[in-house]
Amino acid sequence: MMVTLSLIGIGSGDPRQLTQQAIDAIGELDIALVLDKGSDSSELRLLREELLRRFGRSSLRVVRLPDPPRAASGEYLARVAAWHEQRAERWEEVLREQLSPQQTAGILVWGDPAFYDSTIRIAQTIQQRGVVPLEVKVIPGISSIQLLAAGHQIALNQLNGTIHITTGRRLRDEGLPEGVDEAVVMLDGQCSFLQLATPDSEIFWGACLGSADEQLIHGRVAEVGERIREVRDKLRERKGWVMDIYLLRQKAQS
Ligand SMILES: C[S@@+](CC[C@H](N)C(=O)[O-])C[C@H]1O[C@@H](n2cnc3c(N)ncnc32)[C@H](O)[C@@H]1O
Repeated sequence: MMVTLSLIGIGSGDPRQLTQQAIDAIGELDIALVLDKGSDSSELRLLREELLRRFGRSSLRVVRLPDPPRAASGEYLARVAAWHEQRAERWEEVLREQLSPQQTAGILVWGDPAFYDSTIRIAQTIQQRGVVPLEVKVIPGISSIQLLAAGHQIALNQLNGTIHITTGRRLRDEGLPEGVDEAVVMLDGQCSFLQLATPDSEIFWGACLGSADEQLIHGRVAEVGERIREVRDKLRERKGWVMDIYLLRQKAQS
């Protein structure tokens, strides 16, 4: 008998970003899995738990799952694949042991599940393993990508242009592809824009978007780059973690 796993995008920091569809989906859950990634991100876990209290049924069971640690050495993709496999096993165990047929479990996903998030892939791994017959539902959420654009009041594409989204690691390793001169960069713990900027590079940067700690800085990297690094370091020092995202334009627009 089937059980359902709802992957619910919750927006990127402000509870008011929750869509009506997400509120309804939370209200249908029998169990919510809350991934515990350690104390650094406990603020994010508390926000998820608050949403579950507000919009979940009184009978909703919240199951906290310690996230398995990622191996520190080895080839990157292999390490991530092994980590996904471990997560899939843990989630599968809860679904198998704690859910009755026709019941629904849910996971609140930061931002939108489609952007640099492994939740959909892990749910599909569980489906492929076939131990728990599983229907997967995905509820979209407001991504940090949208918050960045709204915060700076910019469109991400130039007229008729493409939008390139990448990570700090890829930007450092590979630069931008031929013919692409701007990108949205996520998951960059190293302020890679400082290494890669050309004299005219322009940056639209945002940290802790949607929260009381939100910071937005825009300008030529040559002028604002070091200030961004300082603001970022201070946020991380005070909160124990920081999430930031930016649009890097390698040619300033006229
Ligand atoms: C694992 S990815 C998850 C992205 C998420 N699914 C989304 O739609 O935004 C985490 C990265 O998203 C970006 N991010 C997420 N939330 C953010 C926020 N509130 N402010 C700034 N950047 C954020 C950062 O680049 C961070 O390193």
